[in-house]
Amino acid sequence: MTTLITNIGELTTNVPSAAGDPTVTLRDAAVLIEDGRIAWVGSAADARGPSTGSGTQAGSGTQAGSGTQAGSGTQDVIDAAGRAVIPGFVDSHSHLVFGGDRAAEFEARMAGQKYAAGGIRSTVAATRAASDDELRARLRGFLDEMLAQGTTTVEIKSGYGLSVADEERLVRLAAEVTSEVTFLGAHVVPAEYADRPDAYVDLVTGPMLDACAPHARWIDVFCETGAFTVPQSRRVLEAGIARGLGPRVHASQLAPGDGVRLAVELGAASVDHGTYLTDDDVAALAASDTVLTLLPGVEFSTRQPYPDARRLIDAGVTVALACDTNPGSSFTSSMPFCIAIAVRDMGMTPSEAVWAATAGGARALRRDDVGVLAPGARADIVLLKAPTRIHLAYRPGVPLVDQVWKDGVALLGGPDAERGTEDHGALTR
Ligand code: NIG
Ligand code: FE
Repeated sequence: MTTLITNIGELTTNVPSAAGDPTVTLRDAAVLIEDGRIAWVGSAADARGPSTGSGTQAGSGTQAGSGTQAGSGTQDVIDAAGRAVIPGFVDSHSHLVFGGDRAAEFEARMAGQKYAAGGIRSTVAATRAASDDELRARLRGFLDEMLAQGTTTVEIKSGYGLSVADEERLVRLAAEVTSEVTFLGAHVVPAEYADRPDAYVDLVTGPMLDACAPHARWIDVFCETGAFTVPQSRRVLEAGIARGLGPRVHASQLAPGDGVRLAVELGAASVDHGTYLTDDDVAALAASDTVLTLLPGVEFSTRQPYPDARRLIDAGVTVALACDTNPGSSFTSSMPFCIAIAVRDMGMTPSEAVWAATAGGARALRRDDVGVLAPGARADIVLLKAPTRIHLAYRPGVPLVDQVWKDGVALLGGPDAERGTEDHGALTR
């Protein structure tokens, strides 16, 4: 069984190429899906052929790579009617397992109060009080929201448990729905350790890491005044690395600091926030493989200045965009919203922003099977209700996601849509 999406007006492939446009766009294009993967990408004119089964078989098109043929047997055919197709969004930074919300804190901020890391503790209390089933239902609801907005890969952090048992619970619940699980026991120092922060770091790097590492791929730390110092952050990251976890870092969210350079030194896949970057930070990032993940929802919701993505990209830094969905600093799950801000207020072109939300997120997770529409990649595909990806920024707040495939299965719209909508938490497939 194959699916052919044809008559695509604008196909964003993100296939790396030497020539300028990072998104590598094809016009009047088609994509063939086979066994959950992209089998072929090419011109719609090459994807025509005799009808078989439930649709049209692509006959003498261009093969994976460059040859001919686009599959055999029964085939669904989706007519994109000239609209735009992009890779599914890769949201490489989220905190989706928590109890309660902090609407009152947001309201106070909009009235002039400053965001502070300490607010995390109120979510810790609500999370500890919630049952596994409550947390699970909430988590799956967020995944449904994300899917409806085009996200097909999501990284999820712990960090609202802050005890051995609660952190283990959060990474275990996250691991039920994604392979991109991050242990963030070092989010803040919990109230019961307030006067013994180093003892808390002992706990995080000892028994808590032992309990959480089996469920996680990554380790993260909030390296910031009010959270963890650079030496404490180094201890946390090095302990995680020694257990086989990949490092990633929250840094320079509230003020400049040394967290970005620590992340680069330790070979972190990504350093996230970067609201306040020094020239040295930018130079270190540009000379490294560490992605800088910008989180526009945070600046929106905390009324901080938007970081200058133009400065970063022009310096040669690899930039990703992510939502940072969490109840404190950024309670949006919408990648299109983040793209719109990045274009409007952070100096990114629409193409750069879409690249950062797809291929950039994949780089931040060190993945080459998502964020790109090329033969062999996962068939994680979004069909927009719009002729170009520019509309994602040009029409902010408008639901432009029409159909979403994950691993070749239509979870939203499309021929198998019933399966997706009946199954709460469809993104977990
Ligand atoms: O990524 N910066 C640290 N952690 C979260 C915020 C968490 C919260 O305020 O609850 C973030 O922004
Ligand atoms: Fe975060």
